Amino acid sequence: MSPPATRRPLAAVRGVDVPPFYTSRIARRATELRQAGRAVIPMHFGAPTAGTPPGVRAAAARALADDPNSYFESRALIERIGRHYRDSYGLDIDPARIQLTAGASAGLVAAFAALFHPGDRIAVGRPGYPAYRNALRALGRETVEIDLDAASGYRLTVAHLDAVPDPLHGLLVASPANPTGAMLDAATLEALAQRCRERGVRLISDEIYHGISFGERAVSALEVDDDVVVINSFSKLFRMPGWRLGWMVAPATLAPRLSAYVINCFLTPSALAQHAALAAFDDPAELAATVEVYRANRALLLTQLAAAGIDDLVAPDGAFYLYLNVAHLTDDSLAFCERLLEDTGVAAAPGVDFDPVGGHGAIRLSFAVSADEAVRAAVLLREWLERQPGR
Ligand SMILES: Cc1ncc(COP(=O)(O)O)c(C=O)c1O
Repeated sequence: MSPPATRRPLAAVRGVDVPPFYTSRIARRATELRQAGRAVIPMHFGAPTAGTPPGVRAAAARALADDPNSYFESRALIERIGRHYRDSYGLDIDPARIQLTAGASAGLVAAFAALFHPGDRIAVGRPGYPAYRNALRALGRETVEIDLDAASGYRLTVAHLDAVPDPLHGLLVASPANPTGAMLDAATLEALAQRCRERGVRLISDEIYHGISFGERAVSALEVDDDVVVINSFSKLFRMPGWRLGWMVAPATLAPRLSAYVINCFLTPSALAQHAALAAFDDPAELAATVEVYRANRALLLTQLAAAGIDDLVAPDGAFYLYLNVAHLTDDSLAFCERLLEDTGVAAAPGVDFDPVGGHGAIRLSFAVSADEAVRAAVLLREWLERQPGR
């Protein structure tokens, strides 16, 4: 049947294009290889391979028996998060300032939408977590990328901020950062917060890797300034990435506005996840033991990769990633990761996800794996890197 004469072709899609996570291609191939019986070491996504802590799974099983089938916002969890700020940072946070979100991802989108106007300029470090840039782009906000380099430990400073011309409306910092693990000390965070105040720039602090550090503990932006928006999540330290649960802390004046955005865009996070997460704080020894595994993995990989000729190795202060310069071996980090996976079963993330400019010669390895996986990966990576032309 021919279409009616009045029917017009659909207009072209009018939304802005955002790039995919190229790491997803590695993830898909890793799954195929695994299904075909190959041993794969998953160092591509930032998903701890130790799995959800047993106490959390047990709490979820109990909650499931009561059918947590409704929209739900756990007051108990919000209060427990408030206690976490008292215990871990000595901070008294009014629970009214805490908003639960479906992972840090939803918190970031809500903050970008609620706090900025289309066309506003928000500064982020490069290399950095790709969704900052891509979500801002999807929302019509402009990302101003600040180049960070290995020589300065990938740390964002006031000098970087001062080099960004006006107008500037937001600054997003992450400490520890993805993909570099770089941390900002209290003095740097305080100086950044102060300059943001002077320039009328809204400061957002992504603290999703707090609790995972290898020297000093990470400082929360809330310790240096009350007028910041903090994003956090159960995905990393608490090993619950698939549960899709996070939180944000906002100044009292902004909390209702952020809550309205969260509810309109995402309703509530998973009720089951909220029940389960109450138990996440109950077993600090389990979490600390996992961080000790990461510490040993980090040391082992740093030694083995240096021996395999990887230069500019920056030892991460926190999080669970190594960001490697492999520019002497490739100018196509995705193809490089594909080859690495096919040859060795080690899945890595291509640097181009984190840095569209300089990341073609870089890869990111997650060491949130077991000690055994790290030992195997270190051997496989070293042998493979030593065989590469250009070495
Ligand atoms: C720096 C950073 N922020 C936010 C996220 C998103 O985390 P979530 O799983 O809580 O949505 C990630 C995930 O890897 C991340 O690395």
